[in-house]
Amino acid sequence: MIEEQFRDYYQNQVTFSSANHPFSSDPKHVWIVARFKGSWLLTLHPSRGLEFPGGKVEPGETAEEAAIREVFEETGGIVTGRLHYIGQYQVKGKKETVIKNVYFADVDQMITKNNYFETKGPKLIKRLPDDVRDLHDYSFIMKDRVLELSVQEVRRRFLGK
Ligand code: GTP
Repeated sequence: MIEEQFRDYYQNQVTFSSANHPFSSDPKHVWIVARFKGSWLLTLHPSRGLEFPGGKVEPGETAEEAAIREVFEETGGIVTGRLHYIGQYQVKGKKETVIKNVYFADVDQMITKNNYFETKGPKLIKRLPDDVRDLHDYSFIMKDRVLELSVQEVRRRFLGK
């Protein structure tokens, strides 16, 4: 089990845990470490930059349903296989506390769309850069330990490394 506390890009306090829903059984946000045919599947947010897809759970939706919907809306990726729970993190923001479920999804099909909702659509990359924190084209949500810990879990559990 992993549990770590650290500061994010904006110096907010974050706790990441790989335990089973430690902060909320009903989180309102989801984030999906996605892959497609051996590449990482990101989305280009118009102001934040490159990030793994994610967003808010809508009323009447489960977190898993939200995760599948967000991957499709933001990248065109279709998750038909299982969505794997990786962990949960809590960000203590200035105004509110955000709790997100992290999932791993191996997308098996991608559709080209003319609308990716609030994003500019998918970006596939073979390798995640080691210096994401210094790269201006990457989003702040990719710039704290959540990325490293989540990817580490995905590699260990699903990619055999
Ligand atoms: P919209 O309603 O989508 O415009 O969002 P919002 O600006 O209200 O943001 P949201 O409720 O998603 O998050 C509120 C605050 O929590 C953000 O401004 C961030 O500071 C922080 N936050 C949200 N998601 C993350 C995340 O994945 N990582 C980190 N480090 N902070 C986050």
